[in-house]
Amino acid sequence: MIPRKRTVKPTDSAADFIPPRPTLSKLRAAAKGCRGCHLYKLGTQTVFGEGPAHARVMVVGEQPGDAEDKAGRPFVGPSGKLLDRAFEEGGIDRDDVYVTNAVKHFKWAKDARSERRIHKTPNAGEIRACFPWLEAEIALVKPEVIVCLGATAAKALLGRTFSVMKSRGVAVKSEWAPAVFATVHPSAVLRAPREDRARAEAQFIADMKKVGRYIAKAKPAAQRAAKRTAAPARRFSAWPTTAARSPTSRASTQSSRK
Ligand code: URA
Ligand code: SF4
Repeated sequence: MIPRKRTVKPTDSAADFIPPRPTLSKLRAAAKGCRGCHLYKLGTQTVFGEGPAHARVMVVGEQPGDAEDKAGRPFVGPSGKLLDRAFEEGGIDRDDVYVTNAVKHFKWAKDARSERRIHKTPNAGEIRACFPWLEAEIALVKPEVIVCLGATAAKALLGRTFSVMKSRGVAVKSEWAPAVFATVHPSAVLRAPREDRARAEAQFIADMKKVGRYIAKAKPAAQRAAKRTAAPARRFSAWPTTAARSPTSRASTQSSRK
């Protein structure tokens, strides 16, 4: 008999793996063994968030890409390089930023013609299953500002009807943080057709400058208030269970993420 790779049935939610009285390091350690959805079988490893424990800014991407999956760290590939440049131009200190993703495993499919792993957009069920990690990260870091990169992160935190295109670069008050900004995903900038690339990058950087200005203006008292109020008490509701199985047709619009 051919020995099969041992797999464990996914539980449907990362909540089953959150340790009691979590700290960021306890969470990171526990996330390594997460079997909250089937993606644990696809990705090489869990890619947990990274950054100062009380960063003022939390940046939420979609999911690790190929480079992140191999390195085990978020935003170390081409998207991360562009992101770092945008922080710099936006006047955002990298030491003020915690970076993470809505989904912590790399979802991919093999390219038919090469050995390349092609990024696949996570669906609503996967985002919902993984959300407890993000929720716990937000509750511990208590950022003053959250920046959602792309539709997956924005919809996870701001609701399924939120449109990045309509509301990019605008501070939205939410239960997660005093201000949540959404902008495009850096990989969308990198994939833009050559004639649109410069404009896409300039808009992305302009959005980060808005975040930078917001942070620069935030008063110490407001910062303290933010820390008291930002911790979310509820469980997942941006992606309600009843709607979780509805089609996420966005999936078809974002392939081949870098
Ligand atoms: N894209 C993401 O959304 N997250 C990463 O960590 C890397 C690329
Ligand atoms: Fe767990 Fe999230 Fe990985 Fe699914 S994607 S196994 S919920 S860490």
